[in-house]
Amino acid sequence: MAEFDDTYTSILLPQSRVAMYARDLQSIQAFKSLQSDWRFTRVSLDQLEGGVDQATIDLQSGKPAPSLLIIETDTIDDSFTAKLETLAGYCPEGTAAIVIGPVNDVNLYRKLIAMGISDYVVRPVKTETLAFDIARSLIERIGATGSRLVALVGAKGGVGTTSLAQAMAWGAADMLNQKTVLLDGAGGWSTLNVGMNFEPATTLGEASRTAAGNNQDAFKRMLFQASDKLQVLSSGGDVMLEDGIDADSYEALLDKLMTTYPVVIVDLSHSPTALRRIVIARAHQITLVATPLLAPLRSARSLLQEIKDIRADSESRVDLVINKAGMASRHEVSKADLESALDRKPSMIIEYNPALFMGAEGEGRKLNATAEGQDVVRSLLPLMLKILDGVTDTSSIANDQKQKNPLSGILGRLKTKS
Ligand SMILES: Nc1ncnc2c1ncn2[C@@H]1O[C@H](COP(=O)(O)OP(=O)(O)OP(=O)(O)O)[C@@H](O)[C@H]1O
Ligand SMILES: [Mg+2]
Repeated sequence: MAEFDDTYTSILLPQSRVAMYARDLQSIQAFKSLQSDWRFTRVSLDQLEGGVDQATIDLQSGKPAPSLLIIETDTIDDSFTAKLETLAGYCPEGTAAIVIGPVNDVNLYRKLIAMGISDYVVRPVKTETLAFDIARSLIERIGATGSRLVALVGAKGGVGTTSLAQAMAWGAADMLNQKTVLLDGAGGWSTLNVGMNFEPATTLGEASRTAAGNNQDAFKRMLFQASDKLQVLSSGGDVMLEDGIDADSYEALLDKLMTTYPVVIVDLSHSPTALRRIVIARAHQITLVATPLLAPLRSARSLLQEIKDIRADSESRVDLVINKAGMASRHEVSKADLESALDRKPSMIIEYNPALFMGAEGEGRKLNATAEGQDVVRSLLPLMLKILDGVTDTSSIANDQKQKNPLSGILGRLKTKS
């Protein structure tokens, strides 16, 4: 297969189990090498000795059927297809199968496809071919789901929503090792390009039209590569005084990004209401940002109520983050009053620290470039970690947490006022 369709090759594959019964060393090698491929993070790859007979014995004995079976065979005569049919009798409906055989045989290929086998591949199998065939089978059977949508919304303008969206994006990419994309819905009002240090190369409308089309390269060019694991949609070229993108087109853009990135972070500051609504309705985690002053806290209370109306699970989905604590100490609402007024404890309180935040923004450097900034970024990780179960390689997180308790930095700075 010369060309691999991007729909299958550049997405995070769904949670599943693939069992390969093979003896050929090259096939086994190709299969094993998928373990280090980011697309297979959530796919458990079981490499087993044997072929169709062993697979049948295993399923007969009550072992759970995988999502996809890969069977290697040396024989392709009728006895083999008969055995396959027996094996199929033990597979639950929806189990996909790929056969790896010794020679090209059109008749066999047709017969296997007619039997419901996803593909027939001839040895030796290249890793990329195997990856493509597995990906296509899994997506066709299970569908491409599983990415996590993280939304940040400000109770008011200027509370630091964009800064914290960037901080979370760096945390997801640098500390949780997740392939992450950051975007906003602010169109021409976007300030993401300042903090992330790029020139806007597109508009939201153009990005969504390109995402819907087939020109993958053009779409890739609209993504600014901030680091190995972090990309940012380089929108912001929109006209400020014209209406931006409609909610359906924005949702289609999100859907596209969610087929490719395990973590999609949306900064909703300055976004049109319709966009905020659709993202809030869909997000796995929502960070509501407010400062400890009366006006933003009032808005936060109303917004929490409205989110509750559109999401039954709002209690567990929304995290309240109080930012810029200490900026106007004498006028700030105390932590106790804040908690009783909002009927919710803030998940995080972040101090007003202009040298850190405005310094990073002004110089276009990431917040976690300094130890102090790293503490803030690390303190935001728990908000994402709780929704990344099953998406992340938890070993890297465990290591990161072992090095430093994610809360240790910020806890010392929690403002406790009475
Ligand atoms: N904890 C903080 N301490 C000091 N300054 C901060 C803090 N958080 C954010 N800032 C600064 O506050 C300003 C506004 O932040 P930001 O642009 O992130 O807010 P926003 O809520 O996205 O605003 P907008 O409503 O305009 O989109 C920026 O200059 C940013 O560097
Ligand atoms: Mg903003």
